[in-house]
Amino acid sequence: MILKSFLYAVTLLWVGAVNAAQYCDPVTSVCYSETKAGDLYVRVAIPMADNGPFDILLQLVAPKQTAGWAAIAWGGKMTKNPITVAWANGNKTVVSSRWANTRTPPVAYPTATYTVLRGSTSNATHWTLTALCSQCATWTADNVKSALNPNDKAAKFAYALSPTPPSQPANNASSITKHTIHATFTVDLAAAKSDKFQEYITSLA
Ligand code: HEM
Repeated sequence: MILKSFLYAVTLLWVGAVNAAQYCDPVTSVCYSETKAGDLYVRVAIPMADNGPFDILLQLVAPKQTAGWAAIAWGGKMTKNPITVAWANGNKTVVSSRWANTRTPPVAYPTATYTVLRGSTSNATHWTLTALCSQCATWTADNVKSALNPNDKAAKFAYALSPTPPSQPANNASSITKHTIHATFTVDLAAAKSDKFQEYITSLA
């Protein structure tokens, strides 16, 4: 009996550890692979693809005080990969598709497009972006194609943020000031796969 309880506890702990990267939104029931990057929660859901291109459901949750803007770079570095920048605007959030060839303010990147979805809100303490990105999973730089591997349990991403909000929060082409923090982190893309992906998108539209 004691052995049984012990094994049960171990199993629970093990399942807990394996699922540590899973976050299911209690309101929408959408499940994401979640990583905490500094103060920023990065949540990703993808379809059951084995290679790119595929659309990506992205949720960023950031504390207002720390993140006047926050961004993720899909290839794990500042330059030559798609960058998603987001910030609060009133009680909503704004997303901006950017790209940097050099370590200078990233410019608009029209190749990657976003649909802002339900659950993109801002309150007194936090802002949340929920968006579908098309063309964040594949990109071309210097004639070299890169693609996220949807089976990667530790895909390398980068994030950056600044407490200074953009100068024109309503305008997604607004200039931003340089980050105060930047770092790399990994995302479990294999855990982001969901056979409910299309259902999620429809339910959040
Ligand atoms: C006004 C906008 C920006 C400027 C002027 C800028 C400038 C720079 C500079 C000069 C560096 C070299 C190291 C340092 O000085 O800290 C750097 C590094 C870095 N930046 Fe930016 N940056 C900007 C926006 C962004 C954004 C939106 C991201 C998105 C994640 C980002 C991600 C990074 C990362 C990950 C590094 C580390 C080195 C690398 O990956 O190249 N930066 N940045």
